[in-house]
Amino acid sequence: SDLDGFIAGLPKAELHLHIEGSLQPEMMFALARRNRIAIPFDSVEQLRAAYTFSRLQDFLDIYYQGADVLRTEEDFHDLALAYFDRAAADTVVHAEIFFDPQTHTARGIPFGVVAEGLLAGMREAEARHGLTSKLILCFLRHLSEDDALATLREAEPWLEQITGVGLDSSELGHPPSKFRRVFTAAGERGLKRVAHAGEEGPPAYVIEALDLLHIDRLDHGNRSLEDEALTRRLAETGMTLTVCPLSNLKLCVVRDLGTHPIARMLQLGLRATVNSDDPAYFGGYINDNYRAVAPLLTRADLAALARNSFEGSFLDQNQIALRV
Ligand code: ADE
Ligand code: ZN
Repeated sequence: SDLDGFIAGLPKAELHLHIEGSLQPEMMFALARRNRIAIPFDSVEQLRAAYTFSRLQDFLDIYYQGADVLRTEEDFHDLALAYFDRAAADTVVHAEIFFDPQTHTARGIPFGVVAEGLLAGMREAEARHGLTSKLILCFLRHLSEDDALATLREAEPWLEQITGVGLDSSELGHPPSKFRRVFTAAGERGLKRVAHAGEEGPPAYVIEALDLLHIDRLDHGNRSLEDEALTRRLAETGMTLTVCPLSNLKLCVVRDLGTHPIARMLQLGLRATVNSDDPAYFGGYINDNYRAVAPLLTRADLAALARNSFEGSFLDQNQIALRV
């Protein structure tokens, strides 16, 4: 339709994308075959049918299991390039992608295999599509802070090619305060800092991410709206929220798309953006996410969301002028 054309025509940046969450069932089977690994599903259809979740943890269990087929530098390169090809088709001109090194190093895959594969895919996407990208290293919050500190040390040879650190995985019971020291260390190395907060966790976790982790961007942030003073603070400081509508639906963060808070966020003056989170698991890439919330929004709102994605990116101002 006309609206689909409008959304498809908006240049956009994607700021909340887990590269392991872009692993499509077809590629999972292909990599299992290439690496001679058995996977506990008979077909792509049977695997897709397992993607029904009542909460974040249901998804994480199957997402970490799926990542087991990723073994070689070539696998990580192919994974990244497949995402960038698909993103380019949705008029994404810049992407800041998350990766979860601990998911791989815990299985004996060296950090450098993961990083070099992803970086090669990023270079190829820029040559092929002109799509620029940045890499954000996420710490798994269900693991210890010592494990996160060891991961930051392992990353040391690649830190010039890594833009920032993030915090993801099981939110409830793993507050931002658990990662204060590793985020301080990352800041001292000049890395940007982001964190998932307020997806399932309470507004207090968002406040900890601001005050203790000194985040530059807030991933999800939905539950911030339960706290009026916090909402005002986020608006007044121009904090970017990386919101993921289809993820919120599939993980039961919202009851239905009609009650998604994205319109309210814009009305409250929050710098919200729209992103796909884990597109292979949640049933849609970035334009699908824009389309999912479009009934709640005006065209000016949709254009503002796309503009916010550049303003909230880690590109500098003159790079933004060139990208939009
Ligand atoms: N890892 C991948 N996607 C995630 C999400 N939406 N929340 C927390 N951890 C994640
Ligand atoms: Zn996420």
